[in-house]
Amino acid sequence: MHADVERILFTEEQIKNAVKELGKRITEDYAGDPPIVVGILKGSFIFMSDLMREIDLNCDIDFMIAKSYGNATVSSGAVNIVKDLDTDITGRNVLIVEDILDTARTLTAVKDLLMDRSAKSVKIAALLDKVTAQRVSDLTADYKCFDVGNEFVVGYGLDFAEKYRGLKYIGVLKPEIYER
Ligand code: PRP
Repeated sequence: MHADVERILFTEEQIKNAVKELGKRITEDYAGDPPIVVGILKGSFIFMSDLMREIDLNCDIDFMIAKSYGNATVSSGAVNIVKDLDTDITGRNVLIVEDILDTARTLTAVKDLLMDRSAKSVKIAALLDKVTAQRVSDLTADYKCFDVGNEFVVGYGLDFAEKYRGLKYIGVLKPEIYER
């Protein structure tokens, strides 16, 4: 275990099993009408690359970068789309892949934007759902792997100051690392 990690929340094996199970569900749900899988960078990149390999459908992929700012309880005007889609999603199923659903500010804005483009459907697959978080909307994950509490989680794509994304597990960061 990394010296900056207090404890492991989800092991490499638990993540692998959960992603496999999720991929199976998505494969069944979208059979005959594969989605465009849209990763929200950067946090989703490892989850998305593993999930894609567990979805047995001919999916297109694309990516977005969305930066959210401001007070955690204020949703309006707080999300900036730094990189938009390259793909025309009119009439298509879109599956947004995200590492963590926290206040939901990012995904509320992204989902609204994509719905406005006349997508056939827009659903969300989140690796982690921070169930204790104060949400800016009633948005929920259509698919998720794990619930987490109010802890500082890193690994498997999730960072603190751009570090720890490459950890194979999801762990809780030691408070002295982010409090200093
Ligand atoms: C994180 C995470 C989500 C968002 C979740 O992104 O990847 O996109 O915050 O928080 P919310 O539900 O409160 O909007 P971050 O801006 O840290 O960028 P990153 O993906 O590059 O780490």
